Amino acid sequence: MGTRIGVVGSNMVDLITYTDRMPAAGETLAAPSFAMGHGGKGANQAVAAAKLGGDVLLVSRVGDDLFGGGTIKNFQDLGIDTRHVRAVPGTQSGVAPIFVEPSGENRILIVKGANEHLLPADVDAAADDLRTCGLILLQLEIPLETIYHTVAWAAREGIEVLLNPAPAVPELDVERILSATFLVPNQTELTILTGLPAETPAQAEAAARTLVARGIRAVIVTLGADGALLVTDGPAVHVPSVRVRAHDTSGAGDAFIGAFAQHYAANRDVQAAMAWGASYAADSITRPGTQKAFADAATFARFREALKASAGA
Ligand code: RIB
Ligand code: NA
Repeated sequence: MGTRIGVVGSNMVDLITYTDRMPAAGETLAAPSFAMGHGGKGANQAVAAAKLGGDVLLVSRVGDDLFGGGTIKNFQDLGIDTRHVRAVPGTQSGVAPIFVEPSGENRILIVKGANEHLLPADVDAAADDLRTCGLILLQLEIPLETIYHTVAWAAREGIEVLLNPAPAVPELDVERILSATFLVPNQTELTILTGLPAETPAQAEAAARTLVARGIRAVIVTLGADGALLVTDGPAVHVPSVRVRAHDTSGAGDAFIGAFAQHYAANRDVQAAMAWGASYAADSITRPGTQKAFADAATFARFREALKASAGA
């Protein structure tokens, strides 16, 4: 299996407002600060993997607007293969107004724009390059037809797929994604996928088991500060996270998945990749922003050293 990671997914420009509280209907409220940055779940996962040294190929669409060129340049600066990142004439780049409260909790709106134009034919056009990947990452900010098409194509090619069913899309037809190797929902997404509660780890395990029973090889439920839970047809494995002071949790799920993918593609060790992803995500929430908050390999190594030192103290 190759170590190259393919991402077929979205990119957005994140417009992040840090606010003390959300305004009520009809209310105008002054907020303390604002930051703009590169985001989008597909792009974030690609960037996390690339920052850690992963070899990443991205298939994505930008608008033919002011944001598009800067988005592609950002990917190139990070060493991501952008031969299949193109502008769609007459569209706007995806944008995501995000609101972050003092607890670090986030609320996100997405306007998908050009991401809606990433079609099955675009995946076919990238097939020769995607074939060189050992793992393909998918999220739900592009058309569902493109998701189903990519999952089916990868199954025929014998390429492993990680599907992150985010944001939660009730219309997702689970029957058409059962050949994915990894399904990585958070607790809310797991509930929407299964109709079952997933608030406690025990509930999450039971809900994930129903997906494994339907044919998914491994469900990895991200549990925020509690780490992640691996559910397969064997005993479930809980991988804890590390406690940090949350500053901005936006993009933390993407940090987990990008780091997981980079580690897994290189080592094929699921539990070690989960622990790696969980600490990478913990580090990311100590900084504001989404991609901006993702550490490079050297910064992440320092974070892990500091953790080891405090555990030994
Ligand atoms: O997962 C976080 C991401 O969701 C943000 O970067 C935003 O763009 C939305 O896609
Ligand atoms: Na962050």
